[in-house]
Amino acid sequence: MIRTVATKPFDDQKPGTSGLRKKVPHFAQENYAENFLQAIFDATERPAGSAIVIGGDGRFLNATVIRKAIRMAAANGVAKVIVGQNGLLSTPAASNLIRQRKAAGGIVLSASHNPGGPDGDFGIKYNIANGGPAPEGVTDAIYRRTREIADYRIWNGEAPDLSVVGTSRLGDMDVEIVDPVVDYAALMETLFDFARIREAIAGGLTLRFDAMHAVTGPYAREILERRLGAPQGTVLNGVPSEDFGGGHPDPNVVWAAPLVDLMMGPTAPDFGAASDGDGDRNMILGRGIVVTPSDSLAVLAANAHLAPGYAKGIAGIARSMPTSGAADRVAKARGVGIYETPTGWKFFGNLLDAGKVTICGEESAGTGSDHVREKDGLWAVLLWLNILAVRGQSVADIVAAHWAEFGRNYYQRHDYEEVDKPAAEELMNSLRGRLASMAGQRFGTLVVSEADDFSYKDPVDGSVSTGQGVRIVFSGGSRIVFRLSGTGTVGATLRVYLERFEPDPARHALPVEEALKELVDTADAIGEIRARTGRAEPDVRT
Ligand code: G6P
Ligand code: ZN
Repeated sequence: MIRTVATKPFDDQKPGTSGLRKKVPHFAQENYAENFLQAIFDATERPAGSAIVIGGDGRFLNATVIRKAIRMAAANGVAKVIVGQNGLLSTPAASNLIRQRKAAGGIVLSASHNPGGPDGDFGIKYNIANGGPAPEGVTDAIYRRTREIADYRIWNGEAPDLSVVGTSRLGDMDVEIVDPVVDYAALMETLFDFARIREAIAGGLTLRFDAMHAVTGPYAREILERRLGAPQGTVLNGVPSEDFGGGHPDPNVVWAAPLVDLMMGPTAPDFGAASDGDGDRNMILGRGIVVTPSDSLAVLAANAHLAPGYAKGIAGIARSMPTSGAADRVAKARGVGIYETPTGWKFFGNLLDAGKVTICGEESAGTGSDHVREKDGLWAVLLWLNILAVRGQSVADIVAAHWAEFGRNYYQRHDYEEVDKPAAEELMNSLRGRLASMAGQRFGTLVVSEADDFSYKDPVDGSVSTGQGVRIVFSGGSRIVFRLSGTGTVGATLRVYLERFEPDPARHALPVEEALKELVDTADAIGEIRARTGRAEPDVRT
């Protein structure tokens, strides 16, 4: 019943920041998905008898590729696959299932916050046995395999109906279809004080959660509306759709504008949040305030002990390099470790496994903890709700008190999307070429104190990652970071990260644009952004 199908390598199957991502028509080419899946089966380790978790964010192609993956697993000697009902599993729920079931790994089908549908994006990511994204050693091995692949193996029979929960057989393999929400919701109940949050909601705490037509809809309805008693309608856009209702399932001020408008308007609830396509990102809002991801990380780290799962305190905090230094100030004040890693959740895995950190976060709207090995949107929402329930203050008051205690790191990221790739690469190379001569240079009132191209040595396994972004630090601690995105699918996306520390509470309420004006001008002067990309303005400011 095993069919071996001859194929030829594709030369563009190198996984990026978060797996292999391409446009749907590209993925739908004959054998494209099959080649990559076969490379995963060939290049990864699976102890005899072990299971693989399979699920995705429900986007266009999700169910088709899941059925292929199940049939290929059966043909590749996998003992068991655990699959989310209807092919759905949020990324954090997949991470949890891998850990709970001691699976060898997981195949997560998603292009995260990128748009879906027949002309949208699709992606395949492999997670290892700790539940986290495969580290570079593994993704490199998968990539090498894609370059030499000559055939793939597939079971010559249909995959079972993905809508029916229960176990069946495909050849020698068990196929277990599971409710995607149950195990995840149970994990959340162990971490947070559900009774206290329920009481706060019953007592008048109001909230909205925008699932953006993506995978978190069923999770949020079960947890927020059923278990925590928030009224029906608290979850907006809660039914997953293949094209995310035609939008980008990206929880930021651009793509979640209706939620932002609600939160800034006269009928705003106390708390607002949104999550992305696969449920690992989050956006946090209060009445009249959008909390930047870097600030959210710092506030969560400073208050985590208010939730039962973190009552003993946290071991340390990790943040990606371009994330603001707000969390560093919390770590310093609390006497816990702080780690600065390259962009990409996979870099947190070793630190979490080694118990060096409990909480991690990124400026790209990711926050999470050692409960799984992925960032986790609903986890951040629930930790915020737990903190609001215990402190009984508004989001805005909690953030203002945080800045008063630790100082404020004004922060913004400017994205220039679909820039000509060679032009973007030359911009970065030109910066790299000038690093050595930058210290001491003056731009307006700013003087460069240090400039480098970030490289990271993993303190656990000693592996080194270079070329992770150009950092330009000014005396006084302000900072500009230039980096090319590793997740785009068209041209290049230039990201410019701007940060300025302000210790004085009297100066904590400035408009961000005003606080960062000089840095924005300096970024253009140093990076020659306008001249090299032809862009006068960024496409997105987050
Ligand atoms: C994905 C990864 C994150 C990363 C983000 C931005 O969501 O999981 O870890 O921070 O992409 O990456 P980029 O390379 O586009 O800046
Ligand atoms: Zn995501």
